[in-house]
Amino acid sequence: MTGRVRQEWSRRVAAEYGSAGITAQVLAWSVQAGLPPGLLYTANRIVRDELDHARLSHEVLVALGGAEEPVVLAAEDLSVGGTLVDVVVRNFCLGESFAVPTFERMRRRATHPAVRPVLDRILEDEAVHRAFGWDALDALLELAPTLREHVTIVLPGHVASFDGYANPRAAPPLTDEERGCGLLDHAEYAELFQSTWTGDIAPRFVRRGIPIG
Ligand SMILES: [Fe+2]
Ligand SMILES: [Fe+2]
Repeated sequence: MTGRVRQEWSRRVAAEYGSAGITAQVLAWSVQAGLPPGLLYTANRIVRDELDHARLSHEVLVALGGAEEPVVLAAEDLSVGGTLVDVVVRNFCLGESFAVPTFERMRRRATHPAVRPVLDRILEDEAVHRAFGWDALDALLELAPTLREHVTIVLPGHVASFDGYANPRAAPPLTDEERGCGLLDHAEYAELFQSTWTGDIAPRFVRRGIPIG
């Protein structure tokens, strides 16, 4: 398989493992904040899901001939700074809401037998992770309604942190074989980012009394 397919799946292993670390932190903070038990159980489940995604993504990497491909796990990618509401907004309300249509598109194009079942599993879980984000935000806003102002102020910065998706660098188009391995063209990421922001994410913030600039 091509180098960029192996690099992409190696990057995904690291990203999934990073999500496990960050969600473990969200779980600990959510326990301390006294979020409802149902949300704590879901956060706990998500830690496990992300560990599964990391393992399954590594199995894909090996199946695609990337057993020797290094997986770079930087300590700073396994935890995040800020506050619980910041992480919920950035990693869940934004990150997981973008992930659902992105994985949907990848799965639609994927033909490789080692890739499809893994994308099926990830996609199924990401919908749960997205719902957790919005439910956790609602619970936090109920506990502390003034957080609305904080979210309104920090939201543009969190959206800008997804700049790599919104404004991709040019790259040669993918081959059908690469697409069959679950890769998306950079322009597709940008298009999905824009349509998800406008059609899904921005209205969800507005409905919660958080205006979009
Ligand atoms: Fe994941
Ligand atoms: Fe996730």
